[in-house]
Amino acid sequence: MNYFLKCVNCGTVYDPKEIMYTCPKCGPRLGTLEVVINEYPKHSSFDLKSKGIWAFSDLLPIDEDHYEVPLFIGNTPIYEKKALAKKLGLSDLWIKNDGRNPTGSYKDRATAMAITKAKALNFNTIYCASTGNAASSLAGLTAASGMKSIIFVPKTAPEAKITQLLVYGAIVMAVDGTYDEAFDLSTEIGNEFGWYSRNSAINPYLLEGKKTGAMEVVVQLDFKVPDFAIVSVGDGTVVSSIYKGFKDMKTIGLIDKIPKIIGVQAEGANAIVRTFESGHFDRPVDIDAHSIADSIAVGKPRDVLKACKWVKESGGYFVSVTDEEIGKAIIELARETGVFGEPAGAAAYAGLKKLAKDFQGKSAVIFVTGNGLKDIKSAMNFAGRVNYVKPDPKDVKSVLRQIGVIQEG
Ligand SMILES: Cc1ncc(COP(=O)(O)O)c(C=O)c1O
Ligand SMILES: [Zn+2]
Repeated sequence: MNYFLKCVNCGTVYDPKEIMYTCPKCGPRLGTLEVVINEYPKHSSFDLKSKGIWAFSDLLPIDEDHYEVPLFIGNTPIYEKKALAKKLGLSDLWIKNDGRNPTGSYKDRATAMAITKAKALNFNTIYCASTGNAASSLAGLTAASGMKSIIFVPKTAPEAKITQLLVYGAIVMAVDGTYDEAFDLSTEIGNEFGWYSRNSAINPYLLEGKKTGAMEVVVQLDFKVPDFAIVSVGDGTVVSSIYKGFKDMKTIGLIDKIPKIIGVQAEGANAIVRTFESGHFDRPVDIDAHSIADSIAVGKPRDVLKACKWVKESGGYFVSVTDEEIGKAIIELARETGVFGEPAGAAAYAGLKKLAKDFQGKSAVIFVTGNGLKDIKSAMNFAGRVNYVKPDPKDVKSVLRQIGVIQEG
């Protein structure tokens, strides 16, 4: 594959053999790199069913004889929800469930690329800082590839995600601090010891793996393009990747428009919303982040410039939703569609609900980026209550009467 790297801030072009991560002139915060592919092959059929994300191999910056993680990634289900669309006033609504990836989140798409690249460069150890999902993904996919992972997570990450790390045999540093602090710490240590970085935004190839989510939607919808694509946002890489996936499909000539990309943030962690609204994308607004949506509790987003530029280019925008709205969205999404998303996954649905009045008569796809079983504590707070009964039919009937499932008598 013939490609080069381009700084998203100053536009300087780099040879991928010379620069691995970010633009030396602009630094790691603003100088994130875009992978620019020189010439795409002519392509019109994709074997998602047997290949998953590798159906898009020749649209990715990898060698022909690249390594592929021996786990099935991608080709996650997409569901058309006509009744729910009607209820919300939309012409059509699709739910893309990426919680069905091997470690339960969208991040597996990016990790697969990181591992392909690390193998090509002869690295055996990969590190990352993560709110939890990139970490569990890296732990799982390195295990499957016979590699080592060293992982920095805030010690407050949900138990299920930390359990995944330990089960897969990662070396885990639970940092007594925020994700933003864990990120800077991991970079310092990772650089010192020369491990390969799977840190969001810093590694330009992660976004390329993630773009396969949007490409899959295009193929699964038979090259029909929704008016809006909605996804939750932490560092800003996933939302950027969705733009890039649709854009690449347009460049190849398989679709003729790009959806308006809508990024959804938690109100207590809405640094990108603030930067976008300020209009000064190269002066990021950093905040102290707090949200039940741990995956997107990011105060110093690392891909803020790209996310703002590309979402604007698509004609889309960013929106904040409260933790209460996210909690309710977990439950409503599960009961309306059968898809149980973790808080950050359901945040996209909360965003859709909030904006539904602007979307009347339009079509939308929402990406549920993480599996609900990854964080049951938040869901339990909104899910209702259990009926405790004795092993006695009389007791069951008495409860059924109390809660109105059967009538008195
Ligand atoms: C489930 C889930 N959704 C959304 C995101 C947001 O991705 P990004 O940080 O690239 O904006 C993450 C990131 O950790 C995530 O784990
Ligand atoms: Zn630059």
